[in-house]
Amino acid sequence: MPSTIGQPTLNEGVIVAGRPMPHFKRIEVEPITGAAGAEIRGVDLSASLDGETLAEVLLAFEHFLVIVFRDQDLTPEQHKAFSRYFGELTELPQAPIFPGHPDMQEVRREAHEPVTVVPFTRFHTDSPFLERPPLCIVMRALAVPKFGGDTAFANMYLAYEQLSAGMKEMVSRLRVVYSGKRIWQDNAKKDKDSQLRLREQHDFREEQLESTHPAVRSHPVTGRKALFVTQAYFKRFEGWSEEDSKPVMDYLQSLAYRIQHQVRVRWKPNTLIVWDNRFLQHCGIHDYDNERRHLVRTTVIGERPI
Ligand SMILES: [Fe+2]
Repeated sequence: MPSTIGQPTLNEGVIVAGRPMPHFKRIEVEPITGAAGAEIRGVDLSASLDGETLAEVLLAFEHFLVIVFRDQDLTPEQHKAFSRYFGELTELPQAPIFPGHPDMQEVRREAHEPVTVVPFTRFHTDSPFLERPPLCIVMRALAVPKFGGDTAFANMYLAYEQLSAGMKEMVSRLRVVYSGKRIWQDNAKKDKDSQLRLREQHDFREEQLESTHPAVRSHPVTGRKALFVTQAYFKRFEGWSEEDSKPVMDYLQSLAYRIQHQVRVRWKPNTLIVWDNRFLQHCGIHDYDNERRHLVRTTVIGERPI
């Protein structure tokens, strides 16, 4: 494919990820599906980025919600330095830390381990129970299966925009109670070989593990609205019983499974991706066995959902 670096990209009238394709001059940007995601070439993330390149990377992130860089052999410090372009790094109470780096997490399934060690193999948002859930996750692959083990994403702007007017009005009045208080107790009750790998100790207080957020949230700069509902950590809608909440939640969650809202990314060692945890849902696809999958990540703290 010819390089488009240094040339204005001519994409007049092209709509992708629900909006007109932006123009990029400093980086090469190739959308992956019509719904979300783009591969970016022409950037070395081990070095600091100049202002114009960074502005284009951030524009690509805002537009495509998940951006993919290949062949990025980074040290943990370089990984963190790149992550800080998106905001302040945060720890998470439940996610296992990458040994030696409390501000990095790891997703690890050894070749002999069952899929159950990895939390949330269905579409979800990370840590919605926090007052300020993550803005984005910056994840890099160390070891991945030869085939399979992709991560899939669903664009929740599109999921919201395609609702009928009546449903939009109903969900815009909903607030969602999320709680992470019980995950350790619930995990302890499971059989040993079906327990999740969770972080054992953290400094979060009990009251920091439960929050109520709007079911429709807006981008703080553009104002674009997206559905912000996920079964992960879901308790109920505010003012609703759990029994009444469940069927509505199940329907809204099902929208992430519509293929026209999705993109999936195939990992290779040293693939680094940044995904927006506010306006996308994601899930790891465990369609492999007998191979190791090991990814390391940072988490950037987000705004309080509005
Ligand atoms: Fe996740």
